[in-house]
Formats: sequence, C-alpha cells, structure tokens
Amino acid sequence: MNEQDINEYPPLEKIPNHVGIIMDGNGRWARSRGKPRLMGHRAGVENLRRVLRAAVELGIPTVTLYAFSTENWKRPEKEVRGLLRLLEESLISEVDELHKNGVQLRHIGNLDPLSANLKKQIHEALELTKDNTQLIANIAFNYGGRQEIVEAVRNIIAEGYTVDQITEEVVSAHLYTAGLPDLDLVIRTSGEMRISNFLIWQGAYAEYYIAPVFWPDFDKAELYKALQTYNQRDRRFGGLQKI
Ligand code: FPP
Repeated sequence: MNEQDINEYPPLEKIPNHVGIIMDGNGRWARSRGKPRLMGHRAGVENLRRVLRAAVELGIPTVTLYAFSTENWKRPEKEVRGLLRLLEESLISEVDELHKNGVQLRHIGNLDPLSANLKKQIHEALELTKDNTQLIANIAFNYGGRQEIVEAVRNIIAEGYTVDQITEEVVSAHLYTAGLPDLDLVIRTSGEMRISNFLIWQGAYAEYYIAPVFWPDFDKAELYKALQTYNQRDRRFGGLQKI
C-alpha cells in the first residue's frame, strides 16, 4: 500500500478509542544507514508528526506515545542528553502546529528530574492545548508502569481509603491516565514482542500488534494495517461473547 490520502483506504468498521504506541527501533534504523543513533531519534520525531496527522485523519480520539521510559536513563549519557534536547526542540518547533490542528497534549510520567526550563516549557504546552478536542496526544516521558502503580498505591493510602473502599475504579482514578479510557490497541514497532513496562494496568484487555518496521518507517499505511488487524480481532474481555 502506498502513501495516499486516508480517504482512499477502505473504511474501517471500528476505530479504537485509545491507541498506545511503543516507538521502537530508532537506533537500529539509524545504524542500518551508518548514522549515529540520535539521527534515528530525530527521524522518529519527524515520523511522530506524520503519525499524529494520520491519527487525526483516521478519527482516533486518543494516542499515548512511549517516548522515554524510567529505564532509559541507563543509556549512555550522550544519548539521554540528546533525547532531552530533542524533546525541548520538538516542543519549540511543533507546539503551534499541533495546537492549530486541535491536538491536546498531555504528559504521563515523572517530570521531577527534568530541568526547570524544560518543565516550564512542558507545562506551557499542556496549558496552551488543554481545550483542544481533535486528538489527545499523551506523551509518556520518564514513564514506568510499575512506578505509576506504586505512586497510585501511595496516594490511595495517603488519602485514607479503607481496605473495603479499594476497587479497580479507585486504582484507575489514581493513575496518571485518570479520566482516559483503557487501551484498546497497543502497537509496537521493530518486531519486538515486549510490553517494556508500558501502561501495564491500562492495557490489561488491549489488543497487541507488532509492526515489522522500525519506528521511523511506520507510516500511515502501516498504521492503517494495524487498525485493519485490530478490526479482525475478536474482543471478548474474558467472556464468550464477541464485543
Ligand atoms: C526506541 O528506539 C525509542 C526511544 C527510546 C525513544 C523514542 C523517541 C522518539 C520516537 C522521539 C520522540 C521523543 C521525544 C523526545 C519527543 P531505540 O532507541 O530503543 O531503538 P533500538 O531498539 O533500535 O536501539
């Protein structure tokens, strides 16, 4: 399938409410071209812009993008600094366009270790776009699923909940994603079959799709293929009836 207008693709019966994307393979994409890994991350940001546009065209209401995990600090300092710089540059270059296109930016994760300047920039971008309704683009930066659950448990205890009051709804309401629907579909690029601590609670009943291409090559046609596969899945949520 070539890059083409999304309206030229056959219509899809179901559009997932919430798609999570593990944008994997930037490093290998760059290395396979004899380029430094950071070039792959740059290409990854370019691609993110294209995929967000396609998500709007396809009518996906919410996407959560795994940009930096709590484990990514273990990478060489140069790469970590490069990713932080890329986040800063992307905020400067992309926010106005995203705002114009009705994208509401959100963040999940822990911003504490970031510089005061970067934190301020992030808060300004979230504030600017907070009333937009075309697409919620939720950026997981310094995010870890286990850490999110630990933080939720701490807050629940600190707020004085009794044992009997603790329900799935209470836990969900204390996660970073409070108010967002659970994941319907998780896409991971580059052929790897791991969750890597990404939205482990919210993805309990999600469908998982592994794309065979590196993230910078995951284009509109690949997104469409993922949605087509999602449409062919039987979702039974543990029951016997197809939902
Ligand atoms: C995984 O590829 C990618 C990341 C750890 C970073 C993802 C970031 C982007 C797509 C850019 C958007 C980010 C910002 C900062 C806005 P990898 O490095 O694990 O690739 P590899 O598995 O081939 O080594």
